[in-house]
Amino acid sequence: MAQAVLDTAQTVVDAEALEIFQSQWDIYRKFLKHDYLSNREACAVLRQFLDVDVARPFRILDLACGDASGIIGALHKTDVAEYRGVDLSAPALALAAESLANLDCPVTLVEADFTKAPSKDKGGEDIVWISLSLHHLATDDKRKFMRDVRASLAPGGALLIYEPTRRDGEDRDAYLERFEDIGRANWTELSPAEFSEALKHVRACDLPETVSDWRRLGSESGFAAIQELYRSPTDLFRLFLYRP
Ligand SMILES: C[S@@+](CC[C@H](N)C(=O)[O-])C[C@H]1O[C@@H](n2cnc3c(N)ncnc32)[C@H](O)[C@@H]1O
Repeated sequence: MAQAVLDTAQTVVDAEALEIFQSQWDIYRKFLKHDYLSNREACAVLRQFLDVDVARPFRILDLACGDASGIIGALHKTDVAEYRGVDLSAPALALAAESLANLDCPVTLVEADFTKAPSKDKGGEDIVWISLSLHHLATDDKRKFMRDVRASLAPGGALLIYEPTRRDGEDRDAYLERFEDIGRANWTELSPAEFSEALKHVRACDLPETVSDWRRLGSESGFAAIQELYRSPTDLFRLFLYRP
């Protein structure tokens, strides 16, 4: 059983994101509970990739890990040799420590900005995973982040992202309208106030790329192989695999 090491000494650099996380955490937990964002299936696909394609001991860096409640099923009883989670929110990291308590490997949780976390230390990163968080960055910042991840990877390493994704030809307004329509019709366990709070956050903060742009950002960042591994049933979210 792992004893999580919590490093909360670092400076919080994104106070706005932290505040949003704290005020909206209860709503986000409802999204997780009812799997409105298809995290469960995305994590099942991650698991399959780890079991079938990686198939050796690996270290994983989980960026913007939140409470790590989704990824735990993807890692349980795999060859995971080390888990590092990074998030700006200390309360989320405290919950992550509980989620990860039974993981049979060293666990480190760091309170920090995920964009600064990938590192060549200790031979580089094996698996870098980011879910439902990269889309907050502007396009140029996404590219810089992906380049930094590419530079940090160990031989045979990979980046996987599960993020809101626009269809090709769909602009941000059309995506947001589709998001709202799908949510209104299906996310019935949210109260009207919770739904409107969630929409407010998405309208203010989310900058989803198109399918082609997620691919282009990958090749501009030095990745040679880019593959779509999963598309949510709503077609709001997709999982991409990037390999050098
Ligand atoms: C929507 S949650 C996603 C959590 C988890 N990855 C998942 O898929 O369930 C977004 C997370 O990103 C964190 N976050 C936002 N900006 C961040 C940043 N710049 N650095 C680290 N964490 C950040 C928030 O605190 C929150 O836990």
